[in-house]
Amino acid sequence: MDIIYKLILVLHFIGVAMLVGGFLSQMGAKPPLVTHWMRDGALTQLITGFALVGIAPNLEGGEPFDNAAVGTKLLIAVIVTGLALFGMRQDPEKQKPYWAAAGALAIINILVAVFWVAA
Ligand code: HEM
Repeated sequence: MDIIYKLILVLHFIGVAMLVGGFLSQMGAKPPLVTHWMRDGALTQLITGFALVGIAPNLEGGEPFDNAAVGTKLLIAVIVTGLALFGMRQDPEKQKPYWAAAGALAIINILVAVFWVAA
C-alpha cells in the first residue's frame, strides 16, 4: 500500500507541474489563455488528492489528515477546476481573469499543502 500511496503522491506532484506550468507558460501571452494543461492538472489534483486522503489512514502507522486543511484544499481545487473548465470556453480575449484566478489559487493551494496539510 505504501508503494501505491507514494506513486499517487508522485502523480499529485505531476498534477501541480501541469497546473502551475500551464499557468506560467501563459505569462506575458497576449491574451493569456486557460490551457488544457491547467484543466488536466486541476482534475489530476482532485483525483489524486482524494486517493491520498483515502489511503493515508490505511498505511502502516498512517493517520488521517487534518480535515480542515484537506477541506480547504478541496474547496480551492474545486474552484480552480471550475475556473479552468469554464475559462477555456470563453473567447480568448475574455480568458485572462479565469487564467489569473486559477493560477493564483493553485499557488495558494501549494502554500496550504506545505504549511498546513503536510505540517
Ligand atoms: C490545486 C490543487 C492542489 C495543489 C496545487 C496541491 C498541491 C500539493 C503539494 C505541493 C503537496 C506536497 C506538500 C508537501 O509534501 O509538503 C500536496 C500534498 C497533499 N495533497 Fe494536494 N494539492 C491540490 C489538491 C489536493 C486535493 C483536492 C486534496 C484532497 C482532496 C489534496 C490532498 C493532499 C494530501 C493528503 C497531501 C499530503 C501527501 C503527503 O505528504 O503524504 N491535494 N498537495
